[in-house]
Amino acid sequence: MNKLAFIGGTGVYNVGILHNIEEKSINTPYGKAHYQKGLYENKEIIFLARHGVKHTIPPHKINYRANIYALKMLNVSSVISTTAVGSMNPTYKPGELVLINQFIDCTKHREHTFFDGERYGVTHIDMSEPYCNKLRRAILKAGVENDISIHPSGTYICTEGPRFETAAEIKAYQLWGADVVGMTNVPECSLAREAEICYATISMVTNFSTGINQKMLSHKEVFDCMEKNIHSFRKIVTWIIKNYNVQLDCTCHHALDEFGGFHL
Ligand code: HPA
Repeated sequence: MNKLAFIGGTGVYNVGILHNIEEKSINTPYGKAHYQKGLYENKEIIFLARHGVKHTIPPHKINYRANIYALKMLNVSSVISTTAVGSMNPTYKPGELVLINQFIDCTKHREHTFFDGERYGVTHIDMSEPYCNKLRRAILKAGVENDISIHPSGTYICTEGPRFETAAEIKAYQLWGADVVGMTNVPECSLAREAEICYATISMVTNFSTGINQKMLSHKEVFDCMEKNIHSFRKIVTWIIKNYNVQLDCTCHHALDEFGGFHL
């Protein structure tokens, strides 16, 4: 049976509405992944805290390959993740949600592919639309049904971190057309596509970016904003768990048809 999973970013360390929760870990060819398994009514839901449940793993040290491979091993076919982001678009304000639809990759030192010429040989995957449109439509519907407004699109720039950006970097990213900045969506998103898993991200704007915001940026500001607005995530996630049909087929599950599919 196909399963639904959530990857929680900064400030999101559980799903909130599950019962019979078990803390689990699983060995993958890329290392160990830790996750929670829980039930909503009779549906099994997987949750993975990207930074660890105590927020001990910085963005550049997350084992993205182990996490996504583990989800594949667990028969997860659809993933919704959350991210905290800084906004460089004045119309996307702190406390608001953005359903990102494009990313720009500015990471530097990450293991970013399963297709490294070793285990899986050489493959080039289409990423013209990096996020699953079926999941994105469901998230927008969840917003409407719960009276939560969501910006329906946005370009996310992923930096290596863990430092925040300089004011000059933000100016350059604005010229490139980015709306929001974060440190974790790449390679999580592209690995999910390589593994033929539907993937979408709901971003919470926690601050205006460096250079736009006149004050110095702190991690506390990011956490405080997440804490204040986490109820919006919870409502959307609850609606998705109740209403999303994770058994339906999707083009994401055929991303590697040309190469014979993705095999564990
Ligand atoms: N920059 C990078 N990552 C972030 C930010 C930011 O301003 N806010 C939340 N995550």
